Amino acid sequence: MTTILQIDASVRKTDNQVQKYNSISRSISHSFIKSWMNGSTDTKIIRRDVGMNPPAFICNEWVAAVFTAEELRTEEQKSILALSDSLIDELVQADLIVISAPMYNYGMPAALKAWFDQIIRIDKTFSFDLARGDYPLKPVLSGKKLVLITSSGEFGFCPGGIREKMNHLGPHIKTLQAYLGVEEVFEISAEYQEFSDDRHALSVDKAHKKAERLAEKLLSAAISVDS
Ligand SMILES: Cc1cc2nc3c(=O)[nH]c(=O)nc-3n(C[C@H](O)[C@H](O)[C@H](O)COP(=O)(O)O)c2cc1C
Repeated sequence: MTTILQIDASVRKTDNQVQKYNSISRSISHSFIKSWMNGSTDTKIIRRDVGMNPPAFICNEWVAAVFTAEELRTEEQKSILALSDSLIDELVQADLIVISAPMYNYGMPAALKAWFDQIIRIDKTFSFDLARGDYPLKPVLSGKKLVLITSSGEFGFCPGGIREKMNHLGPHIKTLQAYLGVEEVFEISAEYQEFSDDRHALSVDKAHKKAERLAEKLLSAAISVDS
């Protein structure tokens, strides 16, 4: 069985009356999941819609609770960490993580960053030991794959593109991937949304097709590992 953790981060829906207001990143993510589910009878999907239900920001009390030994935590501290515990539990279960995210101000939406802040947690998703020298953090989880689906209004954010250096979305998530236990990343990007021209239509169409093909490829790899 494969467990997919599906995280959608756009604040836009996919069923607006005016179609052009619909979320592109969500709809490409739907294409991926639909294509996967067409070929699979043995998949569990955990949905975490951070765009519609943003996780709480971490706070002073959250950090204090994290750094209090588990057996000494008060009931209040346990309840402060309850959301983080369940988000981490969802992550631990996942073999494949599918994140769909719009580019907001050249980076990830605040709600997605809030999710990362809740799950990248000492003694849960990383350990810390100064005996390791200049790199004291070590990821705890491993063996997962990540499909990262993004949409942007401008274009040229890919390697070699005219806005490569302005892309703080994909590179940021790839910096964090190890703490999710992710060892392989597959990126799908739609661009040009703000131009509403043929380049945009082509970019979205290509992204949907890439998502469908990638789902077929990853599913057949998962099936051959299971059998
Ligand atoms: C608050 C906000 C900030 C945005 N910032 C950027 C940006 O920095 N660069 C860019 O190329 N597009 C930017 N856009 C455009 C979105 O990336 C684009 O509309 C994308 O399609 C949104 O994803 P979605 O269609 O899944 O909602 C921004 C849009 C919003 C609403």
